[in-house]
Amino acid sequence: MRTRITELLGIAHPIVQAGMSWASSSAALPAAVSNAGGLGTVAAGPMYVPAFCAVLDEMAALTDRPYAVNVPLYRPQSAEILDAMHARRVPVVIASQGGPRAHLARFHAYGARWVQVVSTLEHALKAQAAGVDALVVVGSEAGGHPPANDVSTLVTVRQVLQRVAIPVIAGGGAADGWGIAALLALGADAVQLGTRFLLTPEATVHANYKAALLAAGVADPVLVGRRSLPVRTLNNRFAQRVFEAEQRPIPAEEYDALFHSASLKQAALDGDVEWGKVEAGQSVGLIDSLEPAAALMARLVRELAQATDRLAGMRHAESTTPIPAA
Ligand SMILES: Cc1cc2nc3c(=O)[nH]c(=O)nc-3n(C[C@H](O)[C@H](O)[C@H](O)COP(=O)(O)O)c2cc1C
Repeated sequence: MRTRITELLGIAHPIVQAGMSWASSSAALPAAVSNAGGLGTVAAGPMYVPAFCAVLDEMAALTDRPYAVNVPLYRPQSAEILDAMHARRVPVVIASQGGPRAHLARFHAYGARWVQVVSTLEHALKAQAAGVDALVVVGSEAGGHPPANDVSTLVTVRQVLQRVAIPVIAGGGAADGWGIAALLALGADAVQLGTRFLLTPEATVHANYKAALLAAGVADPVLVGRRSLPVRTLNNRFAQRVFEAEQRPIPAEEYDALFHSASLKQAALDGDVEWGKVEAGQSVGLIDSLEPAAALMARLVRELAQATDRLAGMRHAESTTPIPAA
């Protein structure tokens, strides 16, 4: 399948493995996805430079296909991380949580593609005006930090597509080829999946984390921390404690302290799935097994073909149906 994104990024399939802190802050998952013709993404979010450079070395050894690095620009380490990416000519930058303007020229100078993560039309227009090459547009079903406004992927992505000209990678809620086809039908040029790729042997999160996700249904990931930096995470004891705090008057600093007392690291690294942030999207309820990344990619591509064939078949049926006289 050829789209503006497969052309722009030099990949075979319009499928992106989303950058996920801890889960893809390593080489195994992104390398497997890139080798299978998708775009694998290393998540630099929680990493310091030496470990990050070691992962880039591993990527160079494991794949000669294009891959991306996701870098949250607000972090103090992001300047050094960007320098390391620049020195190693990382082919695709997927930047979140910060403006791209200051960095674009030097990355474009060696031919990198800069993709900006947004979740509102306002930020999409700003990123396009700054000169980024493409957008990742994420709706509220997504794991991690979805938009706080509860607007779904279906609506957010369509709204952005009505107004921007650059290619769009849609994310949030897709877990199989049918979901990918739906977002391509909406007008997206590729689809990014996070939660689905979490449930692979290659994703580097604790076994307790994966077990909790396999047991979860579509309504179990809830948006927690609406007065801080909302995160979609399983409804565990930490989430309950935040919801309880929201029932009484609580000073903003106390609320923030409570919200930041738990972390993704606690769940992903230590396996504390009761008190940590077990980030996952609603699509977790569509997934019932761990699947190696290469096999998963092959299945996604197969299902995508089935879904698009089905739509094409519907069009054919329609065109042979006589049009009623006016
Ligand atoms: C465990 C986890 C960690 C994440 N970490 C990041 C991150 O470091 N940077 C980022 O831009 N998005 C992050 N995200 C969001 C994903 O990149 C992606 O947008 C989202 O997972 C897509 O929705 P889905 O989970 O429904 O597929 C994370 C998501 C999850 C589930």
